[in-house]
Amino acid sequence: MRLDKYICRCTELTRSEAKKLLKQGLVTVNGSVEKDPSAQAYEESDVRIDGDKLYFAKAKYIMLHKPVDCICSNIDELYPSVLHFVDVDRAFDLHIAGRLDADTTGLVLITDDGQWSHRITSPKKQCAKRYRVQTSKPIAESAIERFAHGVQLQNEKHLTKPAVLEIIGEKEALLTITEGKYHQVKRMFAAIGNRVVGLHREQVGDIALDAELAPGQWRYLTEQEIASI
Ligand code: URA
Repeated sequence: MRLDKYICRCTELTRSEAKKLLKQGLVTVNGSVEKDPSAQAYEESDVRIDGDKLYFAKAKYIMLHKPVDCICSNIDELYPSVLHFVDVDRAFDLHIAGRLDADTTGLVLITDDGQWSHRITSPKKQCAKRYRVQTSKPIAESAIERFAHGVQLQNEKHLTKPAVLEIIGEKEALLTITEGKYHQVKRMFAAIGNRVVGLHREQVGDIALDAELAPGQWRYLTEQEIASI
């Protein structure tokens, strides 16, 4: 990782404060003065500011069972941020990998590893997300084919990417999508003349929401879950 980022990660310093210290020649990496903010530093590097060794905090990877009436944002708005549930140091420095609406429940992944979260949210990576959906009207069998083909959402240029719908009850289904457009699931059902009245995310990629977690509870991901993304 870039040296200026590494310094920010280990201290309370901002990126510009870190750059200033670098410019002043106060930072050493493995015993040599380093002034270049873009120089690479690694977990095992010996980075010091004015002789004081920095200790690298490992990236955090968390799953949260999101309840209703909280938002996937780093700031509180109409509802409080989901980050209030995560009682770790500097929780608000973490970010949310793939948002859910305030009234949607289920699996939320939270991290400070931008490359990892990019693999979840980038449309190019096509990371699958599975939702359990409750609707106001019975779900027609034809919805399976329509979602597999792609539906036209309002104000979108292209059809939605092929999605897998499994109807498990008259008004209940599992829907797996590989995109994350704004209100995507609700808009997909609206596009076929139905309405989502309950939405819960069960899985992202191979990471399933831990059944032991009650709404509002969280845990760290296992090494295997982290590596699966
Ligand atoms: N699709 C939606 O419509 N809402 C969500 O919260 C997630 C996916």
